[in-house]
Amino acid sequence: MMKLAGIDVGNDSIKIALDGVREPIVVPNVVAPGYERHILQEEDSPLKALDVMVYSPRLNKNNQRYFVGLLATENEDSMELEETDNKAMSDQSLIVALTALAYAGLTNQAFGTSSYSTADEVEFMIGTGLPVRTYARFHKVFEERLLGEHEVTFLSTPQLKGRKVKVNIRRAVVSIEGAAALYQIATYDNLQVKDEELYYGCIGICEMGALTTDFPVLKRMSIDNQFSTGEQMGLANYLDPIIRDVEDQFGYRFPSRAKLVQRLKNRDFVIQRIGEGQADIKPIVDQYFSRAATRIVELIKKRWKKYPDIQCFYVIGGGAAALKPYILDAAGTIKLRFVEESELQNVYGYLKLAKSKANQASSAATAG
Ligand SMILES: Nc1ncnc2c1ncn2[C@@H]1O[C@H](COP(=O)(O)OP(=O)(O)OP(=O)(O)O)[C@@H](O)[C@H]1O
Ligand SMILES: [Mg+2]
Repeated sequence: MMKLAGIDVGNDSIKIALDGVREPIVVPNVVAPGYERHILQEEDSPLKALDVMVYSPRLNKNNQRYFVGLLATENEDSMELEETDNKAMSDQSLIVALTALAYAGLTNQAFGTSSYSTADEVEFMIGTGLPVRTYARFHKVFEERLLGEHEVTFLSTPQLKGRKVKVNIRRAVVSIEGAAALYQIATYDNLQVKDEELYYGCIGICEMGALTTDFPVLKRMSIDNQFSTGEQMGLANYLDPIIRDVEDQFGYRFPSRAKLVQRLKNRDFVIQRIGEGQADIKPIVDQYFSRAATRIVELIKKRWKKYPDIQCFYVIGGGAAALKPYILDAAGTIKLRFVEESELQNVYGYLKLAKSKANQASSAATAG
């Protein structure tokens, strides 16, 4: 059976939304070389220990063993993405995306995620997206990289040990980061218009990810070619110096951005130092996040000045979630809009866009 899914191939994390399933699947976009692990206590969920071999005709190196996602964030040799990586072409992103899709394909929606199907092949129609500035040149290549047959073998992963799964992507609908998010915000799950002002208006978006920030402008839900743009900058540009300063000042090293973000989400700013000392990293976080917020607000003002038709501006993406209080502070009297679960708006939008394409295809089929 073909599953319909939205997949946001984020530089920070890959998110998957399955049609009809409430909870999205989130896998940090981190990989490390895999090896035979000594397992003292098995993890309680497959997502905590994705240990895989991936075969895909699109990868440069095949049949390599990788630790993916959470398991890799614990690893010293793990790789997080850098600014120079292009997600349309990145092998790492493809490895994580295929692993996440294989897992998503096996989850049994009816019985919750603790039960897994025994299928050896999973088929998908997916909706996904690229940043504004990458889209025009790379959407075709990206689509081709995703389409077709790939294979993921789970090794020491609990509950999926030894399972070899064909991941067959039959159709991929590629749209634009931030633009898809607005579609999500402006429509209901059944794709009907929820907010006419947004759906038919001229709306500015600032979608801040880990490595890119997109500024699409949408008019009646169509992307404005002239005024939409993007920056090669994201929250990671501010997380990395925080990690560096914390290490310089306190000798405490966060092994990954993901580990730092985990703490920021829990608002836990106190780190433990060797010899029972403690240190507060909040002043360092405040310093860089205020700077990030100032930059974002300036970019928004610049865009808005260039294009005064914009009726309102949404600030979304994981960056918005992290920086919201700082951005509100920096924005002063300029009104900006935020939404809940802002880092998930793209993936929900991708799912809806795929659904809308699937509906068009099936109504064309019945009409013809
Ligand atoms: N609720 C939150 N609080 C704090 N930080 C968050 C929150 N959600 C996400 N982040 C962080 O914000 C950054 C951007 O997250 P997001 O998921 O938007 O990035 P991405 O989509 O993976 O990256 P990109 O868009 O560059 O491909 C990440 O570093 C992430 O860890
Ligand atoms: Mg993103």
